[in-house]
Amino acid sequence: MSKMDEMKLSRRTLMGAAAATALTAGVIGKIAMTSATAAEIKDLPRVKQKMVAPPFVPEHDQVAVGGPKVVEIRFEIEEKKMVIDGDGTEIWALTFNGSVPGPMAIVHEGDYLELTLVNPQSNMMEHNIDFHAATGALGGAGLTMVQPGEEVVLRFKATRTGVFVYHCAPGGAMIPYHVVHGMNGAIMVLPRDGLKDPKGNPVKYDKVFYVGEQDYYIPKDGDGNYKKYESPGDDFGDALEVMKGLVPTHVVFNGAAGALTGEAALTAKVGETALFIHAQANRDSRPHLIGGHGDYVWETGSFDDVPATNLETWFIRGGSAGAAIYTFHQPGVYVYLNHNLITAVMLGAAAHVIVEGEWDDDLMMQVKEPTAIA
Ligand code: CU
Repeated sequence: MSKMDEMKLSRRTLMGAAAATALTAGVIGKIAMTSATAAEIKDLPRVKQKMVAPPFVPEHDQVAVGGPKVVEIRFEIEEKKMVIDGDGTEIWALTFNGSVPGPMAIVHEGDYLELTLVNPQSNMMEHNIDFHAATGALGGAGLTMVQPGEEVVLRFKATRTGVFVYHCAPGGAMIPYHVVHGMNGAIMVLPRDGLKDPKGNPVKYDKVFYVGEQDYYIPKDGDGNYKKYESPGDDFGDALEVMKGLVPTHVVFNGAAGALTGEAALTAKVGETALFIHAQANRDSRPHLIGGHGDYVWETGSFDDVPATNLETWFIRGGSAGAAIYTFHQPGVYVYLNHNLITAVMLGAAAHVIVEGEWDDDLMMQVKEPTAIA
């Protein structure tokens, strides 16, 4: 099947599924929170949230101020060539706002997220977005397909708390193809009264580290070298062959190997509390902080669940995001990685956190330096 046929077919399949979803929407809606009328939604305060590139997140209140709002965000789709490792390996990435993962939006439960999705004329492909946080129409995918030169506006109500993946889902093989070319990200829906520890006491964080783990499947030529392509989509046939094997050539954090190390390492101070958000749209992962822990971990992503405590490693199901809170007690370099260590060290899924502050001998000390065995 040609690429064009594939796209047409997938579009038909998707539209059919969207129609079926629309028929049952009335039933599903009844289990959600109280429905607001169009007039009530129109009267809600509207705020624009400025998107920033990961690992950073937009300015936000941890505890909601006032009642529900409509939070407006804008994603512009960029099909762009990206270098994904230190060897100059390239991919024509498909991105929301030019970053892998796409930017994080943050709202509170009961707020509305209103996305303007823009597919500039200069792009080659059609795209859409499926929000795992949303209810109906394939997570919005059935209502957001935009051709190059089009834009669309989707509003959905954030009825569930937690961290949730979003991704492009244009239909058929284009769904995994777009996802493993970078077209995914996460949003956070906070409880209106903020995060809670297992006893129900409020938990605050000083900073958020938004880590998107990305698996890439880069085709090789006859000599075993990674292939380069002229334009977005040119690798479609070759990439699908690699993808079918389910063995990624790269698994990286935030778009490229080393994107969160060296100059770009994450930073914190002793005493600061960080919220790590880990999103993986396609493949399972096992986040671990070397030298630290998950004090509280919402492994499945839901903030309505009681967090697990004192975890060494946690599990992120492919197609989900999870959150972990940790307060740093010692200075130094921490490695945050996928504790499939082959994936971390040989494929790229590792980040550094540089922590400044006073060393605590009580927690750890080198009692004797290495010396010749007595
Ligand atoms: Cu796409």
